[in-house]
Parts: sequence; C-alpha cells; structure tokens
Amino acid sequence: MQTVWWLWPLVALCSGDQFRGEAEKIMRATPVIDGHNDLPWQLLTMFNNQLQEKAADLTSLAQTHTNIPKLRAGFVGAQFWSAYTPCDTQNKDAVRRILEQIDVIHRMCHMYPETFVCVTNSTGIRQAFQEGRVASLIGVEGGHSIDSSLGVLRALYHLGMRYLTLTHSCNTPWADNWLVDTGEDQAQSQGLSEFGQSVVREMNRLGVIIDLAHVSVATMKAALRLSKAPIIFSHSSAYSLCRHRRNVPDDVLQLVNQTGSLVMVNFYNDYVSCQQQATLSQVADHLDHIKKVAGAGAVGFGGDYDGVSRLPSGLEDVSKYPDLVAELLRRRWTEAEVRGALADNLLRVFEAVEQVSDHAGTPEEVPIPLGELQGSCRTTYGYSEAPSFHPPPGALLASLSTILLGLCLL
Ligand SMILES: *[C@@H]1O[C@H](CO)[C@@H](O)[C@H](O)[C@H]1NC(C)=O
Ligand SMILES: *[C@@H]1O[C@H](CO)[C@@H](O)[C@H](O)[C@H]1NC(C)=O
Ligand SMILES: [Zn+2]
Repeated sequence: MQTVWWLWPLVALCSGDQFRGEAEKIMRATPVIDGHNDLPWQLLTMFNNQLQEKAADLTSLAQTHTNIPKLRAGFVGAQFWSAYTPCDTQNKDAVRRILEQIDVIHRMCHMYPETFVCVTNSTGIRQAFQEGRVASLIGVEGGHSIDSSLGVLRALYHLGMRYLTLTHSCNTPWADNWLVDTGEDQAQSQGLSEFGQSVVREMNRLGVIIDLAHVSVATMKAALRLSKAPIIFSHSSAYSLCRHRRNVPDDVLQLVNQTGSLVMVNFYNDYVSCQQQATLSQVADHLDHIKKVAGAGAVGFGGDYDGVSRLPSGLEDVSKYPDLVAELLRRRWTEAEVRGALADNLLRVFEAVEQVSDHAGTPEEVPIPLGELQGSCRTTYGYSEAPSFHPPPGALLASLSTILLGLCLL
C-alpha cells in the first residue's frame, strides 16, 4: 500500500472529479434539505391533482424538474413541498385551494411510502435520513392563503404546515410584498400591520417557521425584529450579486446573522444572474457571498424546482445537488460548512422554532379589523356584535362599518 501513495493524485485526476466523490460521501450521511419545491403546483396544473393517472406516475414523470429517480440521484433527504395558490385567488377561493394543495402533498407522500415519509418536526427529518426516505414537509407559500384569519392559520398548522411565506407577490391586508420595493405596488402595512404582528406572534407560539421569501425589505426587517425564533428565506438569493428585489440585501443578511436565521439560495436564473442564462458556478457565488456576510451557518439550498422556467446550466433538475456540493468543496468549504448548508443549518433553525413554540400558551384572538378586510364576497358574522368589554382595536371601526352598511341597504 505504502508504495503506491504517489498514484493517488493520478487516480483522482483520471477518475474525473475527486470533489464529486467527496460530495457523495458527505451526502450519504447528510443529504440535502431543500427549502422550496413546487412539484405540487405541477401536479395541479398537469393532472388536476389526480395522482393515479398513468401519466402522473412519479417514478417516470419526465416533463418536471422533480421525480423519484432524480430525487434519489440528487441525495435529497428532506423537502419542504410548496403548497401554493396564486395571488389571483386572494379574497376568492385561496383557502379552498390551499387545502387542496396540502391534501395533494399528503396523498403524494402516502402513495410512495418507500420514497416519502410525511413528517412535521426535526426529529422526523433525522429519522427519515436514517431510513433513507425523503422527509416531506409542507410550506404554505403566500399569506393570502390564511385569508387574514388566525383561526385558518391554526387549522393549517394542524394539517401539517411548518412554514408560511408571509406574502407571495401581492400584499396581504397585513404584510407588504417585494413589489412595493420596485414601485409596482403601494406600501400598505409599512412592513407588518398590527394584525400582521399578531400573525407572527402566533406562528412563534405554534412553531411555524416564518418565511420571508417574496416580502418587502420593510416586512423582512419587521419580522426579524419581532420574531422570537430564527426565520428562513426558503428560496431567495443575494441582492448584492443580482439586484432583483426577490433577493436579500446585505443589511438584512446582517440581521440574518444576528438572529441565527437562514437564507436558502434560489437557483432561478433571473435571481442568480439577473439574466436569462446562469451557471452552477454563479449559484455557488451566491452561497459564498451569503457565507461571507451572514456566516456559514446562514446558508442553505432552496432550488425553487418546478416553480421556475429557467435554471442554471449544471443545475437543470433535482439530481444535480451533488455537483453544487462538489463546487463548494472545490472552493474550500469545510466538511462542516457543507453539512451546514445541506441540512444542519435548517435543523438548527427548526429546532429553535420548536423550542420557542408554546402550545400551552395563550392563542392570539383579536381578529383583523373589518375595515382592513378586502373582497366583496364575504360575510361579516362575528363583527356585527362587538364584545361589551375589552373592545379589541378595530371593534369600533367594525361596528361603524356595519352601521354604514346598514344605512346603504336602507
Ligand atoms: C414528531 O413527529 C412524530 C410523527 O412524525 C411524532 O410521533 C413525535 O411525537 C413528534 N415529536 C415531537 C417532539 O413533537
Ligand atoms: C454570525 O457571524 C459570526 C461572526 O462572523 C459567526 O461567528 C456566526 O457563526 C454567524 N452566524 C451564523 C448563523 O452563521
Ligand atoms: Zn416563490
């Protein structure tokens, strides 16, 4: 053995990529936890959520970035599946549609029990790693999905939601989205309204991770200040490398560091290079930058697979994570830093969120003021009779609105 030590560099050279082998070795014990995958949206748009259709077979599905063989080749060990309904469902059928997307994730998970296991906590993720199954978690993308209701928020928690993205690309009545920062939308809540703050407090109490992908910078800062637990950006990249408002600016990255929070880097070309084309190496630049500004503990992967139309060369589908890990090793990331980006950082955040949660604590109860609700097709039960003592803020406005409504009808 000792006589052939000098052969090793040669073997590495000839075997293609030593870093790729090293990446696979690391990922066998620490597979990737990805922050955001839109396969459930594809299941709706391609099959109207009919998973038993022949074409919907996840072992052979080919038009998507995600299928079971690709997840296996990519060493995906846990996935936050996105339960998503677009902004045009706000004030319409958003709640119904989000329930259906949560249902399709549950059905997908149960239909392929050798591959997936539905979990709702950090212990479940670690167990899935041991079993060699893909821990499947639910992230609800877009605060409009709770229809401004703390009761709906709690019900979604019971159905397995473990992160909520406070907005998608539209304001909710209680939180502003990133289009406020481009000037395409008006600021409404200056970050978080009073009700928006109570949503954040209730998420802390329940143990739902706060996700700040898609929100305005003011909302990012308000939530980072208020939350008692660390937060995530489930699929956002670095603003200073690509000046797109979906990305995270450096001053917010400082807050991410101070709060022990996490940015899971989005692979969408438009957020990586600000152009139609991008490369795996440019994604690694984002990971390097966030590591430099916020620390190696603040970096993760949030590929946004099946939610985007353009992906970097080298990261075309979910089988490619090991190539990105190999690139980080080539850039001299330590094994501990790589394991952090793959899984340990998310597990740290999730465990902190679980620590902060307090199911014996008092639920938030004060409803959004009626005057802040939008949409014409809703009833106002509960608002018409304000409680006679401890009137909540907005109760006066609520009863005023009822009176005015009454006048109109007369
Ligand atoms: C984690 O979830 C599992 C089900 O996947 C459950 O049995 C277990 O009690 C949970 N653990 C904690 C600490 O809540
Ligand atoms: C925040 O920065 C400090 C100092 O650079 C570093 O020690 C710490 O690990 C960072 N936190 C995270 C979450 O990376
Ligand atoms: Zn998104």
